[in-house]
Amino acid sequence: MGQIYIVLNWKIYASIADCFILPPYIRQLAGEVLSYNLKFILCPPAPFLSTVFEVLKPLPKNLALGAQDISHIEDGAATGEIAAKTVSPWASYTIVGHSEHRHNHHETNYRISEKASLALKYNLVPIICVGEEKRSGIATTFVEEQLAQSLVLLDKEALKKVIIAYEPVWAIGAQDPAPQDYAENMLKHLRKLLPAETKIMYGGSVFEDNAKDFIEVGFDGLFIGRASLKRKSLEGIINKIKDVINSRSTTQK
Ligand code: PGA
Repeated sequence: MGQIYIVLNWKIYASIADCFILPPYIRQLAGEVLSYNLKFILCPPAPFLSTVFEVLKPLPKNLALGAQDISHIEDGAATGEIAAKTVSPWASYTIVGHSEHRHNHHETNYRISEKASLALKYNLVPIICVGEEKRSGIATTFVEEQLAQSLVLLDKEALKKVIIAYEPVWAIGAQDPAPQDYAENMLKHLRKLLPAETKIMYGGSVFEDNAKDFIEVGFDGLFIGRASLKRKSLEGIINKIKDVINSRSTTQK
């Protein structure tokens, strides 16, 4: 079983106080699961990246920081934007194309592709979010198109380096995630479109009671919003992932 990625997307929920309280706990959790090949990517609001970095220093090898977005503009006159070069001293990853950002900033797929390619230039692994707005039988067609357009500026080698987060928009910030078979169907479809090396994670209402559903069917990780700010939820999710890994290694023996 390959590495499992856990993205902790704090959105704008987190306060500066949270940046001192939660990261030491996340570092401890990361240390406890080193042997499980789990990697945590903590994405605080950008102005807090340097603080969280200082609090976590030295970062264990299975814990890295990510930005929640970057500008498609590299340098120059772009008031209010956050550049890749601004976050790159602290972050090794960046989310791009999150549905909330796509929506609030009227972003096109091409714009996401520009951001992903700029991220790679600054040694940031882009975590590219895709997902259909509505639950539907033709969601795979929609997501395929969205994915192709969001990757249009990346060549095959670059594609192997990115992470895709499949996040059905209707499941983000909702009560329930996508059902396991629905997500699995999408995963199988996405796998056919991408190089074998490309990691694909699931996001949207991941909590302790459903986390294992997505790891069981072969997603390479989980993209977690609300539950990433609650110690108990996070611990519960990690325990469920450990159970899946443990049961796989028992059946492989
Ligand atoms: P949620 O958010 O886990 O709160 O639904 C997921 C996300 O960040 O997209």
